Amino acid sequence: MSVVRFGVSLEKELLNALDKFVIQNQYTNRSQAIRHLINKNLVSDKWKTDNVVAGSITLVYDHHKRDLSNKLTRLQHDYHDVILSLQHFHLEHDLCMEIIAVKGKASRLSVLADKLTAVKGIQHGQLTMSVAD
Ligand code: NI
Repeated sequence: MSVVRFGVSLEKELLNALDKFVIQNQYTNRSQAIRHLINKNLVSDKWKTDNVVAGSITLVYDHHKRDLSNKLTRLQHDYHDVILSLQHFHLEHDLCMEIIAVKGKASRLSVLADKLTAVKGIQHGQLTMSVAD
């Protein structure tokens, strides 16, 4: 991929903030940091559309909560067309973490993540996005 240079005008405060960001995240230079920020934003935009994207849904919950496991399984079967695989970790005696790898229309993945996170007893639920096409 060819690289194009272009000039950017920034307020001094914003430039200071960028330099701080570069140091904190150990980027090689400002260009790398800006590239990362732009990519991240564009991917977020894509997430709102009907483009096909890949990502993961992380859930943390207590499996002892009544009917919780059944509800999660039922939902996952309803959305089997976008679920690639899932991994279950027994974190502690009362705590489970599930990571579900998903690929499909961004809007459908968002709905699935919302439904899973809304199940009573889920302590934490998060959809992470990346790009598939
Ligand atoms: Ni478990």
